[in-house]
Amino acid sequence: MHIHVLGAGAGGGFPQWNCNCHNCDGFRRGTIKARSRTQSSICVSGDGVNWVLFNASPDVLKQVQEFAPLQPGRALRDTGIVGIVLIDAQIDHTTGLLMLREGQVKREIYATQMVRNDLTSGNPLFNILGHYCGVNWHEAPIDGSSFEIPGAANLKFSSVALKSKAPPYSPHRYDSHDGDTIGVLIEDTKTGKKLFYAPGLGEIEAHLPALMRQADCIMVDGTFWTDTEMIDLGLMDKTARDIGHIPQSGKGGMMEVLAAYPDARRVLIHINNTNPILNEESVERHLLEGAGIEVSFDGMDIHL
Ligand code: MLT
Ligand code: MN
Ligand code: ZN
Repeated sequence: MHIHVLGAGAGGGFPQWNCNCHNCDGFRRGTIKARSRTQSSICVSGDGVNWVLFNASPDVLKQVQEFAPLQPGRALRDTGIVGIVLIDAQIDHTTGLLMLREGQVKREIYATQMVRNDLTSGNPLFNILGHYCGVNWHEAPIDGSSFEIPGAANLKFSSVALKSKAPPYSPHRYDSHDGDTIGVLIEDTKTGKKLFYAPGLGEIEAHLPALMRQADCIMVDGTFWTDTEMIDLGLMDKTARDIGHIPQSGKGGMMEVLAAYPDARRVLIHINNTNPILNEESVERHLLEGAGIEVSFDGMDIHL
């Protein structure tokens, strides 16, 4: 299985256009050692030719420009993307659908009923796309059952509901429903290798360890270092967990969670611009490295 990180940043990317936090300011001034990151997305392929896009980032056009296998190569209008899986309905994971509106062939989109509801109500992207390429919506399961995506050779997908949060424009923002967010176990049916992908993860529920145990690579929510990161900076009045993200540090944090899977490759994604792990020389980054946890970056390739 080929896994390519198109964007490793959270909503807003890094540096964020209006942010002067230590990281964003330090990046612009060149006083910290860090890489810029576009907004959260990966693509996965079983044959290196046909790719499944996970999430459609607002930065998708730049991401496609940077990664030739997704570009047209065979016909006048063409793409290496055979299907798009949306793990939630958030801006940073769905806005790119508008940038992919061209063409006469419908976009094949795999998302839960809840995500479809949000994308036909609070943020009616699917309706808007109906006036362009159109959408072929396929319901993504939330009970761990598996599905295939036509054209995505050698790949099998199983999706489960995860506790996180519906977006601000969802009719049920403060009343979480199963299916607002999913995690996906992706299996290469030829090699048996598996990736567990969950860029939005607010809680480790009872059904998760069994999935993570199977995975050769666990790629999960790396949004915040502490639960109170945004509060401490005076940027928001909510904790990381309030908005559906387990922080890396502290009791029950992601470092502690990932310590239980030492044999898997463990990678953080969806990293917020305020997170000190973006600074490659920070104490926090060194703590992660010491624990064998990787911080993904745009352009990162993983072969399983
Ligand atoms: C989130 O996952 O909480 C988002 O990154 C928020 C956003 O896109 O603004
Ligand atoms: Mn997000
Ligand atoms: Zn910032």
